[in-house]
Amino acid sequence: MELLERQEALADMTRLAREAGDGHGGLVLLCGEAGVGKTAVLEQFQRDLPAARWSWGACDSLFTPRPLGPLFDLAGQLGGELDRLCRTGGGREELFGTLLRQVSDGATLDVLVIEDIHWADEATIDLLRFLGRRLKGARALVIASYRDEGLTTDHPLRVALGDLAGLRSIHRVTLAPLSPPGVGRLAAASGLDPAELYRLTGGNPFFVTEVLQAGMREVPAAARDVVLARSARLSPPARELLDITALTGTRIEPDLIEAVDPGSAALIDEIHASGLLVEDGTRLRFRHEIARLAVEQAILAHRRGPIHRRILAALQALGRADDARLAFHAEGAGDGPAVLKYAPAAARQAAALASHQEAAAQYR
Ligand SMILES: Nc1ncnc2c1ncn2[C@@H]1O[C@H](COP(=O)(O)OP(=O)(O)OP(=O)(O)O)[C@@H](O)[C@H]1O
Ligand SMILES: [Mg+2]
Repeated sequence: MELLERQEALADMTRLAREAGDGHGGLVLLCGEAGVGKTAVLEQFQRDLPAARWSWGACDSLFTPRPLGPLFDLAGQLGGELDRLCRTGGGREELFGTLLRQVSDGATLDVLVIEDIHWADEATIDLLRFLGRRLKGARALVIASYRDEGLTTDHPLRVALGDLAGLRSIHRVTLAPLSPPGVGRLAAASGLDPAELYRLTGGNPFFVTEVLQAGMREVPAAARDVVLARSARLSPPARELLDITALTGTRIEPDLIEAVDPGSAALIDEIHASGLLVEDGTRLRFRHEIARLAVEQAILAHRRGPIHRRILAALQALGRADDARLAFHAEGAGDGPAVLKYAPAAARQAAALASHQEAAAQYR
């Protein structure tokens, strides 16, 4: 789909990438409300800049953040010494320094994307602080995306951004919702009233495209209804599986889904056909986190516990060693002994990497 009204943001980032390629690296803070198109503009930028070496990391919304999760994502793609350190439990100063060294040398421009830092753990925020101060002489551009709505003044991210504000190597790119003519262009072929669509969506591209893709003849009363209307058309077993996927996270892990609900691949195909899930490389994910959240919030309270219990059992059966995630589902399942097993282990890990001050204090 064509991206509307993003030429200026792309031109700014192209200029910064050129400077970074000349050895004047920087940190770009890409902000805007949920669904405004941060990920979409980054994907477009990657298509525009194929010569650079791109690595992507992301913070998670669903459970207690993995300590330094995005750094581990990046290490998996960058390989080398950083990847080795991640596997052998290197300390954070060593990890930060190695990442910087690995993207600073070499003739290729490195672009590192860290998505959704409004969910970052404290160690990841410290990583941004570290990079923000040291990228000036590196052949690397780091782009961190975040939602700027609802960040309280004492939020650790806001505090860190304040500390970095004056530095020359820090740049801000802000994405605004689409204008009424932009919404009109997207709605042109649909027969929907563009003014009415703009009023409902406030120009938010996620909600605009959701209404259009759902093939609605009338603009619905509430944007959330659009997402739920799609799920209401699924067969009952697919509907049930959708609830499970909404509680496992934005990305769909086929082996996990198979372990929770054996033989459910055909149902996943049905959900994919509904447009609620889209392809993401070789996998599927929710078309948008807003959609996952709408589905999650619509799950009746008495059904949540049993779903968490099934996910917990599946994670255990697969031997997944992600303590924070296991603790999250153990709590959702109301399984006290499992919480007591996984939560302290998760806190120990968070404390070791200074990922979460409160967890560290509780752990002590
Ligand atoms: N400029 C645009 N023109 C047309 N459609 C767009 C534009 N930007 C985004 N979209 C559509 O809106 C949807 C939501 O965009 P995207 O996922 O990039 O938002 P986001 O800002 O990354 O949200 P989040 O904060 O939840 O990560 C995309 O799937 C895309 O279809
Ligand atoms: Mg996004």
